[in-house]
Amino acid sequence: MTAQPGKNPYRPGAATPPLHLAGREPQLARFPKLLAGAPEIPANMRLTGLRGVGKSVLLKEFETIARNEGWAVVRHQVEPRHNSEEAISLLLGQSIEHAKTRMSRYRRLRSQLLEAVEVGRRLLTVSYEDINFSMGGAGEVERDLSRNLYDAVETALDTGHEGFALLLDEAQVIRDDTTRDGEYPLSMLVAAVNALQEAGLPLALVMCGLPTLRANLQRARTYSERMFRGEVIGELTGNPGAARDAFVEPLTTTSVTADDGLIARVLDEVEGYPFFIQLWGAELWEAARDAGVDRFTTSLLDSIETDIYARLDEEFYAGRVDTLTPSEQDLLMSTGRCAYPPLRSVDIRGRSDKSEGNVNVLMGRLTEQGVLYRIQKGVYEYTAPKFHQYLERRLAALD
Ligand SMILES: Nc1ncnc2c1ncn2[C@@H]1O[C@H](COP(=O)(O)OP(=O)(O)OP(=O)(O)O)[C@@H](O)[C@H]1O
Ligand SMILES: [Mg+2]
Repeated sequence: MTAQPGKNPYRPGAATPPLHLAGREPQLARFPKLLAGAPEIPANMRLTGLRGVGKSVLLKEFETIARNEGWAVVRHQVEPRHNSEEAISLLLGQSIEHAKTRMSRYRRLRSQLLEAVEVGRRLLTVSYEDINFSMGGAGEVERDLSRNLYDAVETALDTGHEGFALLLDEAQVIRDDTTRDGEYPLSMLVAAVNALQEAGLPLALVMCGLPTLRANLQRARTYSERMFRGEVIGELTGNPGAARDAFVEPLTTTSVTADDGLIARVLDEVEGYPFFIQLWGAELWEAARDAGVDRFTTSLLDSIETDIYARLDEEFYAGRVDTLTPSEQDLLMSTGRCAYPPLRSVDIRGRSDKSEGNVNVLMGRLTEQGVLYRIQKGVYEYTAPKFHQYLERRLAALD
């Protein structure tokens, strides 16, 4: 990708593809191999990482790769309201319906390309009835879901695709709830996919989300440890290295250059986090334009540092706090006075006037809201990088 002349080549945003996707070569190389191994080896991947590390843009790349490899794809960002057996099944049913229409267009396109050479129907060796039988005691909703997934794979093969890939973003919101009677949406999804894969269907599942996803899967009733290939998406490292590339490469399509001293300072401040790299770059770009210069220098950075943090706090952090209830906010703010990392419940209790039970409930809710994730009993971390420093800034502004 190249930026249009004069346009800002940085892309701070949510799921906004960067001009240069740095440092994800290993994952980009592994994914097509995973697809190629299906159906003999189940093509399932779990992508986890903190906020703003680039999970969604990587998932979009996976979609492109899968399509290029001839797979039919559905990519969806799930939302908290989909966290029930009925809701997730309905959502996937609808997405699959849409996808089937797209698949038949693909067949027309493909047969034109092959000059009417018939795209041979690859007969599925198993029928849905066989699979249904093997699922034994599955409930009605689960049967609907596996029927829909079966249809998706069948239509994909009928239309000349290699298989059907389901890519789910924000997948940590789908979780089994042992306190609500019989709500096991995650187990249901995994079980349905597993049954079809065991029957030899070319079905791929990629689940992408916050680090909580991993624990959710481990706790799921039907989780089989070997079902997913796990990829942890972390900060970009190295100077020179991926972090530097992410910052410097977008400039190569422009007439602007960056001083070495400036680069070193930016890399030091952003700690390899992709969203921060894009934000620092975008702000420097605007500042250079306003000043009529074509060089990023440390003095340029000095002049906008406060603005950068103001924008970072507003765009990246504030929304995560403002949507919480007053008592959740209260507790979260008191975690800003605790030592970090990690956060320990004992420490929080010492800094908050809330009862032990209340602190535990609120920590549970902050975890459900995706603000924190649990490392082990009583030990937590924030899901957004450098969030503790943000809380410190916010507390300092209050004092
Ligand atoms: N490998 C990368 N190289 C350069 N920039 C990147 C890279 N990955 C992501 N970005 C940039 O980082 C920002 C965040 O990316 P993305 O929205 O994919 O993160 P995320 O992990 O999905 O975050 P969230 O958990 O909040 O959904 C975007 O502005 C994107 O352009
Ligand atoms: Mg995302």
